[in-house]
Amino acid sequence: MSFIAIQLIHWHKHYGRHHLPWQGNRDPYAIWLSEIMLQQTQVNTVIPYYVRFMREFPTISSLAQAPLDSVLALWSGLGYYSRARNLHQTARILMQEYQGQFPDTPALIQRLPGIGRSTAAAIAVFAFGKREAILDGNVKRIFARHFGITGYPGESKIQNQLWDKAEELLPVNYRNGQIETYTQALMDLGATVCTRHTPLCPTCPLQHSCIAYNENRVDQLPTPKPRKPLPQKETIFLLLMRQQNLLLEKRPAAGIWGELWCPPEISIGIDAAAYCRSHLGIEVQLSITLPALDHQFTHFKLRIYPQLLQVVSGTPVQLHKFVWIKPVDALEQAIPTPVRKLLQQNFLADDCTLLNI
Ligand code: ADE
Repeated sequence: MSFIAIQLIHWHKHYGRHHLPWQGNRDPYAIWLSEIMLQQTQVNTVIPYYVRFMREFPTISSLAQAPLDSVLALWSGLGYYSRARNLHQTARILMQEYQGQFPDTPALIQRLPGIGRSTAAAIAVFAFGKREAILDGNVKRIFARHFGITGYPGESKIQNQLWDKAEELLPVNYRNGQIETYTQALMDLGATVCTRHTPLCPTCPLQHSCIAYNENRVDQLPTPKPRKPLPQKETIFLLLMRQQNLLLEKRPAAGIWGELWCPPEISIGIDAAAYCRSHLGIEVQLSITLPALDHQFTHFKLRIYPQLLQVVSGTPVQLHKFVWIKPVDALEQAIPTPVRKLLQQNFLADDCTLLNI
């Protein structure tokens, strides 16, 4: 085994994470779910979501049978909702094409929606004990620093170099359980020691062979993405209140927040009352502009101008796409984070003043 692998395995015994809720079993479903949740979200945030999800949908079959809406509701607040849609779709594929069993080879695992090379490898390691290399964001950072690899890791040339290292370092002639420990050690080192900001180099088991450390370049590696400023977009949310109920609309499947519930949205410059009359069949009066809300996506920033409107009469005709709901109940539904914030800031404050416009 490479010296690095030996050091990592030894380090993990003492300093790694051993009691995460998805550890200590080989249920591919539990491991798959945890790896998907952990793709873009940190462990501490994931844990309560994971526990709730497993309680609600303990098996592939229960997930496949559930309506997408209830899956999205459990995901609400975790972000990157395509993960939940892919999870749900994959559960249905597994029931239809794999007799409800998770495939056990990385090639087959990687064909499932939402699973890339590194996630497929992690599942193959943790669920099936396969000897596979992972390379998620944390591991890219470790290798870029340790081997002094300059260049943005999103570039395919750099990414290939990092994959080569990941393959090269995999333990050989390892004992039972060591491939899992090695893989978890890499993940844990990246999350707790070789962090993006203020890494804890003095405690790192790989410090002595780390090129970035020895050349005092830790803060320069991995090379950051060449940044263009993110485009800024703006939109208006119509908060239509009928007595104490708010109108939410199910968004189309394609586009941001697909199939999540949001207030109806109009572009800047559109007349809100005219839109409500012509598109929703609703007459409104009294309009208050609430403080703007900013939300950042990977590819753009969105500034939301919430406009509060009191409904005089009417309701949308396409009932399956709309719901009148109390703000407190909306929190239980599949809503994106900025809508949750909007509700919490404006409707659920102690005095509840906005409910009585
Ligand atoms: N990040 C991605 N997968 C992980 C796992 N299994 N444990 C901890 N952090 C992770």
